[in-house]
Amino acid sequence: MEALFKPYFDELEIPLPELNTNIPSKFLKQVEAIFQIKPAVFSFIFGIPPKEILNEARRLGIKTVGAATTIDEALALEEAGVDAIVAAGFEAGGHRPSFLRPAYDSLTGTFALVQQLKSKVKTPIIAAGGIADGKGVAAALTLGADAVQLGTAFLITDESNATPIHKARLMSDEAKYTVLSKSLTGRMGRMIRNRITEEVKYETEVLPFPLQTRLMGPLRAAAVAQGKTDMINFWSGQNAVSLKHTKAAELMQALVTETQLILQR
Ligand SMILES: Cc1cc2nc3c(=O)[nH]c(=O)nc-3n(C[C@H](O)[C@H](O)[C@H](O)COP(=O)(O)O)c2cc1C
Repeated sequence: MEALFKPYFDELEIPLPELNTNIPSKFLKQVEAIFQIKPAVFSFIFGIPPKEILNEARRLGIKTVGAATTIDEALALEEAGVDAIVAAGFEAGGHRPSFLRPAYDSLTGTFALVQQLKSKVKTPIIAAGGIADGKGVAAALTLGADAVQLGTAFLITDESNATPIHKARLMSDEAKYTVLSKSLTGRMGRMIRNRITEEVKYETEVLPFPLQTRLMGPLRAAAVAQGKTDMINFWSGQNAVSLKHTKAAELMQALVTETQLILQR
């Protein structure tokens, strides 16, 4: 790993970080916080929480939502009794939430996945990946989705915590090309193609999640400070080019109005 990544650290004239491999899981503390706050929904990715946790959520009236990238994952989530299942198509920005098979073996597009899931599971399906406007929402609902989930479209809104450079990249021509890479965190996720994703191919071995994030953290900070944005990865789904709205309320309103108009026709 040192040999692979040292040239980038050298270019930014910073040392490779000393990595502490002791990374205790925050999961139980996060669950504790959820049970205290009692939000309307508890959504999770990368697997299925233990039965006791799902039961407690149910007891507290918190709806549970899991993410599936294959029909088998959806069936496992249904068996666990979740309230809704996100059909996470490969167009989606951010991590691939696969948990039964490796992420590279679980690459189905949103529309095929929604239809597959709809034919085999009874739990409500939330379509996610590549949906950016009312046309996409109407298409997903027409194919049988019960709801849709958008991520990338909200990243460019004023309300989002994405950095100004990230927002600018999403609105630039560079967002036309995204790749599935694990160079940023050690787990496969969709991001804008750049120098690092081109040079560190998906097949290249990197550190396991979340250690790779610790390696890339200081590189990212120095790259931002030095304006070397070709060394920073920016998450994005495959449909950033269709984005228009930079205010969350306007985006929501447009989604509702456009979807209703199309479905009424
Ligand atoms: C930067 C970023 C972070 C995300 N983090 C999470 C997360 O923590 N949990 C989750 O369930 N989904 C997460 N997602 C996935 C979104 O909830 C959503 O399913 C996905 O973005 C939909 O595809 P789209 O980006 O093409 O709209 C994330 C997406 C992005 C772009």
